[in-house]
Amino acid sequence: MNKILVATEKPFAKAAVEGIRQIIEKAGYEMALLENYTLKSELMAAAADADAIIIRSDIVDKDVMDAAKQLKIVVRAGAGYDNIDLETATQHGVVAMNTPGQNSNAVAELAIGMMVLAARNNFNGTSGSELKGKKLGLHAYGYVGKAVATIAKGFGMDVYAFDPFVAKEKMEAEGIKPVADAPELYTTCQYVSLHMPANAQTKKSINFELLSKMPKGATLINTARKEVVDEEGLTQMFTERPDFKYVSDVEPDNKSLIAEKFSGRFFFTPKKIGAQTSEANNNAGLAAARQIVSFFKTGDKTFQVNK
Ligand code: 3PG
Repeated sequence: MNKILVATEKPFAKAAVEGIRQIIEKAGYEMALLENYTLKSELMAAAADADAIIIRSDIVDKDVMDAAKQLKIVVRAGAGYDNIDLETATQHGVVAMNTPGQNSNAVAELAIGMMVLAARNNFNGTSGSELKGKKLGLHAYGYVGKAVATIAKGFGMDVYAFDPFVAKEKMEAEGIKPVADAPELYTTCQYVSLHMPANAQTKKSINFELLSKMPKGATLINTARKEVVDEEGLTQMFTERPDFKYVSDVEPDNKSLIAEKFSGRFFFTPKKIGAQTSEANNNAGLAAARQIVSFFKTGDKTFQVNK
């Protein structure tokens, strides 16, 4: 009988776990649950006899895959799969998947929420500003970027986007103004929201050169990954541009320096919470379980990311 391990250092909502269990057991498989763990060794031990693993931002590296001798498939219940060692997965013949789009509304709502927070001076009671009529730049236009655009248009924002992988015509058809490159996006928009994956091309790509192009009242919103921002450039931007604000879903490594010097101009969630809603947990968790069942029953590899 296939054993499917749900390994979540940051647990899903209870109802989502029960939904995952039902899908797995209905298919005739067994579910194991490892939540709130702190050590990699705990994940390695739990993975030892698993045929499949469902994870969130949990790190599945070579050690974990070496320990998981029965493993055939690992599914990241979410979008970004920078936490899976894809090369080792391929070498071990393990299929890696994500569940694209399933948690994007939750992340988009947080991006907009943090934008409002910044515009209203962290709700400190002083006079802030409105989003209506302001220019919002989406740096990458995937599922989350698109969901942010939909809500931002409701606020009356003027939405621009840069994404080298999305056709201009598609953006235009969806009421978005495409720009030719990242510098143009940052030059045009007072608000810029990041929605790209973390990879070799994007890590540290949001640097001072780009940020310093932003117009007065610049606000950067990061619900992507902290790694895409060059933290030296970020500090320089805070220093040279007293109008600049940064709101981010997850603290940067230089959080204490920012907190000490640039009080009132930032907000950081203590833990990544973009996808931490019961709806997103349900959508992504259940999709992951269904993808695993379908893979075992029919060999379906839709959403495989290591090919
Ligand atoms: C994602 O890549 O799907 C989001 O960053 C959510 O991550 P999480 O499942 O760890 O909350």
